[in-house]
Amino acid sequence: MSTREVSPEAPIGVFDSGVGGLTVARAIRDQLPGESMIYVGDTARTPYGPRPIAEVRRFALEILDDLVAQGVKMLVIACNTASAAVLRDARERYDVPVIEVIGPTVRSAMSITRNGRVGLIGTQGTIQSRAYDDLFSMRSDIELTSAACPRFVELVEAGETSGPVVIDVAEGYLAPLVAAGIDTLVLGCTHYPFLRGALRQVVGPDVALVSSDIETANAVYEVLTARGMLRPADSGDPVLRYEATGPDTAEFKALAKRMLGIGIDAVDRVQTGTIAIPPGAFRAP
Ligand code: DGL
Repeated sequence: MSTREVSPEAPIGVFDSGVGGLTVARAIRDQLPGESMIYVGDTARTPYGPRPIAEVRRFALEILDDLVAQGVKMLVIACNTASAAVLRDARERYDVPVIEVIGPTVRSAMSITRNGRVGLIGTQGTIQSRAYDDLFSMRSDIELTSAACPRFVELVEAGETSGPVVIDVAEGYLAPLVAAGIDTLVLGCTHYPFLRGALRQVVGPDVALVSSDIETANAVYEVLTARGMLRPADSGDPVLRYEATGPDTAEFKALAKRMLGIGIDAVDRVQTGTIAIPPGAFRAP
């Protein structure tokens, strides 16, 4: 589909199954502090990881449609499971640029690996979708070893990112990857940047860790710059809006604070398919 003319002042729409995508939003803010953002966490239906991929696809398209209706200038699918579910068709569906987390992360891992042995960890949905495998298969010299790590999300959300339990669980999940002699480990889930220390401890200092938050932010920067869509410096303070689909917006704020140290003033409760907020009506950060 051709790209629709949208104002560079419009916000970037960022979507995740819950709070994890705030790691991506944070990485975007680090590089592009002048951009406005609408962040939607599908907290009513989180986690996506254990769900059938067709169901995740339906949820993701619903929310992305709503973000486009709110007038965003770019969509960022800040969730690995959702990216895996809509990787093949999201770009054709929308007339604004769509950035997902898998492509940029794979490209970075491809340029980093020296021995061609790459490890991938993610949710059950991401690993079973084989979306990463499809992209890595473009390079016949790369051998991918994957592991689903279903307990990691719950550990991170409980604030457990270090200590014997985390190390024990990580050692179990990563044993086949270490045995395969990987030199690069792809952190294919929004929550895994919080486990960097523990993962490093398990795989050792010589394995490069590639994380989807930073790679995705790099891609957002590149696309906005290349298309001349950066928000002009004279358009005032950027505005940030946080939306959650679940009723417990206080829990969203508490988790965001615990995980990221982000103090969020307000989270708006929204229902998918019914968002009717005029573009530009954002609350100041
Ligand atoms: N955001 C998800 C991902 O990156 C992790 C949390 C979930 O399972 O919903 O895959």
